[in-house]
Amino acid sequence: MLSPAQISQYENDGFLVLPGFKSAAQMRELRRAAADIVAAHDIERYKAVFSTGRQRQKQGDEFQRYFINSANTVRCFFEEKTFDSEGDLIYPLAQSINKIGHAMHDLDPVFGTFSRGEKLDELAEALGLVEPQIWQSMYIFKQPRIGGQVDWHQDASFFHTSPISVTTFWFALDDAHLDNGCLWVEKGGHKGPLRQIFVRGGEGAVLRTIDQTPWPAGKKVIPLEVKAGSLVCFHGKLPHYSAANTSNKARHAYTLHVTNGRSVYSKENWIQRDKDFPATGFKVH
Ligand code: FE2
Repeated sequence: MLSPAQISQYENDGFLVLPGFKSAAQMRELRRAAADIVAAHDIERYKAVFSTGRQRQKQGDEFQRYFINSANTVRCFFEEKTFDSEGDLIYPLAQSINKIGHAMHDLDPVFGTFSRGEKLDELAEALGLVEPQIWQSMYIFKQPRIGGQVDWHQDASFFHTSPISVTTFWFALDDAHLDNGCLWVEKGGHKGPLRQIFVRGGEGAVLRTIDQTPWPAGKKVIPLEVKAGSLVCFHGKLPHYSAANTSNKARHAYTLHVTNGRSVYSKENWIQRDKDFPATGFKVH
C-alpha cells in the first residue's frame, strides 16, 4: 500500500498526502449524504443553542450539552458568524452549517461505506495502526465567506491513548488551497510535546494545558494545498490549523480519527463507547 519512501516520509514529516484516494463518484455520494443529513436535521430546534446574544457559544452550558451528546450520534453545528445581532440566520440554512459530527461512520450507511474498506484497512496497517478503532467522523463544510478559522491544535489532545496513537484521515472533497482555508501543518512537529488534553468535566469537556511549548511559527509551517480526492494522513501530535475561508466557494472535507486498539484509550476522553456500540476498524462489517 505504501512504499518504504512514503513510510519514512510519514515518520519524518508527521503527515502524508495520497492524491486520488477517492473517486469523484465516491465524493459525490458522500456530499449528497451530508446534504441529506442537513436537510433532515431539525436545525431550527437547536438554533437557540448556537445563536448569539449568547455570544461565546462554546462556553454556554446548552452548547456543551449539545456537543457532548453528539459524540455517538449525528448532529449539525452552525458556523460562528452565521447569526445576525437579532439571532437570525444571515445565509440560507444549508450554507450556515459548520460541520456534522460525530458518528456518521457507524450510523449512516453512505458514510459507513466511504469510511471503510480494504484500501483503508491496508493503509492503516502500513501506518502502524494495529487493530484500528474509528472513534469519530466529521464532515466539515468550511462555508464560503463565513467558514471560520480552526486554531492550532493537535488531534491527540482529543483522543488520548497510552502510548499516543491517534491518526487522522483527512479527505479533501474539494480542492483545498490558500484562499479557501486549506490545512497548515508544522512539518516534523509531531516529534514535539503534546500541549493540551481535552477532558470531560462538569456538563461538558475542557481543554487543559499540559505543556507550555508555544505553537509553531517560521519555515516549518507549511500549507497543504491538495486536490479533491486526496487523503491526508497525519500523526496525532502533528500541530495543524486551518485558516478562514475567504473565497466564495465551499471547502468540504471529511475526517476520521482512529486509534490503535492495543493502546489504552483514556476514560477522560470526551467520546466513550459502550460494549453494544464499540469503536471498530476499517473492515467492512
Ligand atoms: Fe484537527
